[in-house]
Order: sequence, then structure tokens, then C-alpha cells
Amino acid sequence: MRNIVVAIDGPAGTGKSITGKLLADKLGIQYIDSGAYYRAVTYLTIINNIKLNEINKINDIAKSCNLSWEDENIFMNNVNVTKEMRSLEVSNRVSSLAKIKSLREIITEKLRKYKEYGSLVMDGKDIGTVVFPDADFKFFFTSDINVRAARRQQDLSEYGYQIQIDKIINEIARRDEMDMTREESPLQIAPNAIKVDTTYMIIEEQVDFVYKTILQSISLEEINK
Ligand code: CDP
Repeated sequence: MRNIVVAIDGPAGTGKSITGKLLADKLGIQYIDSGAYYRAVTYLTIINNIKLNEINKINDIAKSCNLSWEDENIFMNNVNVTKEMRSLEVSNRVSSLAKIKSLREIITEKLRKYKEYGSLVMDGKDIGTVVFPDADFKFFFTSDINVRAARRQQDLSEYGYQIQIDKIINEIARRDEMDMTREESPLQIAPNAIKVDTTYMIIEEQVDFVYKTILQSISLEEINK
């Protein structure tokens, strides 16, 4: 038995998070949403009025930020912040914080620790390239922007946010651009990642594809839970 790491990277709205979560449940291992750390720190800078150039304060926040997941909910230092983390205000600011090298180092270190507790599925932007370059399985999800925006609009409405589609298209296009062009660990496909275009796929197909791909090279018994 060994601890395996499954990395799922890709732009917003490609279905990484839901696929990652369902896949982890199916394998009986941990699921970690790395973007939640960037969103949580961003949320804390907003409510505490911290500016983007106050790097030391941002880093201190990141060091003391601990997240946990329970069903569909995310808890930050034991407070349920599921809805707050998805707000447009957080989405519009998060990529500006995610450029900060020292912040990325703090979050990356926290993310790597999860491997000590067992196998895991982690989704994000730099999981297969920087956080776990030796991940056992790497997937890179892509999808048409209109489909991604429609999915995001649906997700947001489930959290109680009604947002026009063109606002969402602008938000994700702008965030993709910032994430792909930043100097520190930009969003890019790892050379050995399997590319999955999810434009015409439903969630079950995505999960099934990733699950079957994994089981082609490892048996369930070999995976440490
Ligand atoms: O699923 P979606 O792309 O909307 O976002 P997320 O996973 O919640 O991540 C939000 C933002 O955090 C991204 O747009 C990136 O700016 C940043 N992020 C990152 O830089 N590195 C990661 N591993 C995960 C997220």
C-alpha cells in the first residue's frame, strides 16, 4: 500500500472540484481544494481591509488559516465560509493575491502536508507542476468558456448569487489570463498530464474517465486510504 496523489489542474468552471470530490469519495481518500486556501486568504484580506501591498499581513493571515471540509461545506478556523468564498468580490481579487511568491510558498507548504495523512486528490492550478510535480496521476481539464461560465452561473445560483452571464465570462476570462501569465507557478499543463476536454461531458463521465484511468495502473488494494 502507498499514498498516491492525483492532481487535477485547469481553468475555472471545467468541473475539477466536483470531479475531484466525487473521485476521492469513490477511492475512499482525501479531497483537497487548493483554491479554497487562496480564496480564504483573499476573503480575510477583504474583511480586515488589508491591501495587496501589505505582504507581511497577508502572509500572517495565510499562516494562521486552517481549512477543513465537511460534506459540501468549507470551514475556516472552524467557521463555515462556504458562501463567502464564492462571492464575486473574492473571485475578482483572488488572482491578484495568488501572484505573491511568499504567499504561494506558505500555501504550497500547507498543501504538501496533506500527503502525510494518506492518499489524496487535489485540484488547482499548479498541483501537477509545482505542489506535487511527482504526482502519480495528473489531469488537466479544459472546456469552452461559454460552457464554463454557464456552469459557474449555476454553481453561484446554488449559493444564492444571481449573476449575469457576461459578468461571469469577464470574471473567469480575466482570472484565467492572470493565472496563466503570472511569473510564479502559472497555470499550465504539466508535460505528463492527461488533457481532458470536459465541454461535452457530464460530471459522471468525467469521474468515470479519471477513475478508470487510475485503475489501469494501480489496484484499489494498493492505495493507502
Ligand atoms: O475553480 P476556480 O478556478 O474558480 O477557482 P479556485 O480553484 O477556487 O481558485 C481560485 C483562484 O486561486 C485561482 O483563479 C488562482 O488565482 C488561485 N489558485 C492558485 O493560484 N493556485 C492554486 N493551486 C489554486 C488556486
